[in-house]
Amino acid sequence: MAAVSQKQYDVIMGLGNHHRTPGYWLERWLFLAGSIRSGKTYSSATGYVAWANNNFGGAQFIVAARLFRLIKANVRPQLERAATELRIPHRWRTADSVLEIGSNEHWCFDGGNEASADKIQGITASGGYLDEAALMPKRFVEAVGERCSEPGAKVIATLNPREPNHWIVTDYLEPAGYTVDGAGRIVVSGREADASRRVSGRHVGFSLADNPTLTAPYIQDLAATHSGTWLQRNVLGLWVAGEGLIWPRFTVCQAPEGPPDRWLVSIDAADRTVTHALLAGQWGPRIHIVDEWHHDAHRYGEIPVDEKVDAYIEHLTQRGHVAYWICDRFAYAELGVLRARNPGHIVDGPNTPGTKDVSIDQAYLWLQSGTCTIDESCHHLLASINGYTHESQRRRQQNSRKTDHGADALRNLLYDLNRNQGVNLAA
Ligand SMILES: Nc1ncnc2c1ncn2[C@@H]1O[C@H](COP(=O)(O)OP(=O)(O)OP(=O)(O)O)[C@@H](O)[C@H]1O
Ligand SMILES: [Mg+2]
Repeated sequence: MAAVSQKQYDVIMGLGNHHRTPGYWLERWLFLAGSIRSGKTYSSATGYVAWANNNFGGAQFIVAARLFRLIKANVRPQLERAATELRIPHRWRTADSVLEIGSNEHWCFDGGNEASADKIQGITASGGYLDEAALMPKRFVEAVGERCSEPGAKVIATLNPREPNHWIVTDYLEPAGYTVDGAGRIVVSGREADASRRVSGRHVGFSLADNPTLTAPYIQDLAATHSGTWLQRNVLGLWVAGEGLIWPRFTVCQAPEGPPDRWLVSIDAADRTVTHALLAGQWGPRIHIVDEWHHDAHRYGEIPVDEKVDAYIEHLTQRGHVAYWICDRFAYAELGVLRARNPGHIVDGPNTPGTKDVSIDQAYLWLQSGTCTIDESCHHLLASINGYTHESQRRRQQNSRKTDHGADALRNLLYDLNRNQGVNLAA
């Protein structure tokens, strides 16, 4: 085998061995994500061919790329190279686009459009290999998961980062215990989904340094000649929003020194699927979002409203008494319980059609001037702001879960501070 980097070695060993070998990766989904040219396809092709051959015989597999042309240009040559290196006989059957490797059949498809899912109906597969999975329709990736029903089956996917609320993140990586941090990196969230939503998955992040064949001048050139979203996603491997961010500038930092003048909480519970509460401290004219409480009922199961309210009151009052609780005025159940618990002054949040644009503009000024800053621990809020685009507001992205609760809670808080409702900062 050619020289490989440590990361590539880990993938080949963790994936490619017999399943009873110590160190074998047990997860059903494997996501290799990161920079372009970082050696993801090279190492996963070797790992995948070794895995299929070491664990199955006479079995069927699904291999897909976004376009069939990419199977020919990239995927098939890599799988054939891997088979040759592993000394496994292989043969390409043009008639039905099947790559035979040993006694296994790898059926090749384009996974790029909505109709692609229909093409794989009827197959019972022991595994799948998806190249550039984040650019495939979600339905196709789901369908591959459904077809891979044989015991021990796995789906191996390579991808480049997209927006932080992409369905790969919300529907696969988060339920597998990962999250996107404020800088756009995938990190372990330490939070497990409830049993019905848990995904058995592993994320392996790749950077340019993980491809041993790239030269320093090439890497330097990529970074120097590109900018913006493309650079962040495809070179730095970060999950960041595309162009059109509503609040493009904000500061992530630590809280100012000393205790704040007062604490405030803003809660968005609009559709009763996600509840997102923000804890803000006020130091003179400065607001810093210090902490958050986030619950996704779809993913982690529903909690009765009173238990939910008690949970965030307990969490968000650990630092001290919270004087003001701003809550979406249409979250009636939430407001009822909050009033009954009476943790402080309860304020009905604006949330009327006429205030939305105004509050978006006001929050823009707070954030870009650095008068409102955010703690780096507030992962959900930062992901929400990083996915808060003009596009996401025009139409709910078909493939993305609604993630603007944090942004809504933030603009409600700042609107209220501007509105002088007893929480006036103007002085
Ligand atoms: N260990 C290695 N030995 C030899 N060649 C390698 C090795 N790792 C990567 N390469 C080569 O480097 C190039 C880029 O690698 P690869 O295609 O795996 O990157 P990638 O992360 O899949 O990139 P993209 O996101 O653009 O698909 C390929 O030509 C590949 O053959
Ligand atoms: Mg690739």
